[in-house]
Amino acid sequence: MNDTAIITGASSGIGAATAEQFIAKGFSVINIARRPSPVAGVVNVAADLGSDEGALRAATECKAHLAADGGRITLIHNASLMLKDTANDCETQALMRVMAVNVLAVNTLNRELIGSMAAGSSIIYVGSTLSEKAVSGAYSYVISKHAQLGQMRATCQDLSGSGIHTAMVCPGFTDTEMLKQHLGGDVDLMREIGSQNSFGRLVKPEEIANVVVWAHESPVANGSVIHANLGQKEH
Ligand SMILES: NC(=O)c1ccc[n+]([C@@H]2O[C@H](COP(=O)([O-])OP(=O)(O)OC[C@H]3O[C@@H](n4cnc5c(N)ncnc54)[C@H](OP(=O)(O)O)[C@@H]3O)[C@@H](O)[C@H]2O)c1
Repeated sequence: MNDTAIITGASSGIGAATAEQFIAKGFSVINIARRPSPVAGVVNVAADLGSDEGALRAATECKAHLAADGGRITLIHNASLMLKDTANDCETQALMRVMAVNVLAVNTLNRELIGSMAAGSSIIYVGSTLSEKAVSGAYSYVISKHAQLGQMRATCQDLSGSGIHTAMVCPGFTDTEMLKQHLGGDVDLMREIGSQNSFGRLVKPEEIANVVVWAHESPVANGSVIHANLGQKEH
């Protein structure tokens, strides 16, 4: 029986790097995203996690794959939507869109898949430095990332004794599409952002993937928030 990694958003960035590492470890890997994963050997479950219908359909499709595979599962909540907004201008619909992907889909996948998870499984959340602090201009994202932290902590308490552990990995500025988009593709700004930690560079997606793999392999980290940001300078 293969162990399985179910990764949301393994079509790019941190999710794709994480898929690569679990494939190398012999896991069956399922990507839940709108686009397929670029990683060879990954099973793609095409879904838009922006609707509950999409998340439910994805969970059902995953269960069909699991029935064949069996074994332990790591469910990695990595997909996210990040908008630019502030407390002064955030529209209700925009906040609902962000919460749908970043919080509600997480809830649906947990509820539908926990019953299929044997002892030794894990639920790993990819949060953000913005799960525990705020910056201006990322209002809805900050709210959703704080909510994910609450989900992780509540998951830990509710699954106590099940043999399933959970943790949140909080990346700092990482060289992915999401960061590029957020900075409007401004290369100088990317460089400037990269200089805001003690190593003077952006985090590589594979560095976060390493920590996610470690979190799955380390039940001792149950309930933990794991920071992975190269020592971000605080202002
Ligand atoms: N990059 C950073 O600096 C940074 C910093 C802190 C935290 N993070 C966190 O790291 C995680 C991964 O982000 P990344 O930086 O690797 O960004 P990315 O390369 O843009 O990846 C985002 C992923 O989310 C998926 N996604 C977004 N909306 C979706 C939807 N409606 N339905 C299904 N999938 C959806 C995308 O897949 P499709 O487009 O194919 O659907 C994509 O695979 C996120 O949780 C992010 O908040 C990133």
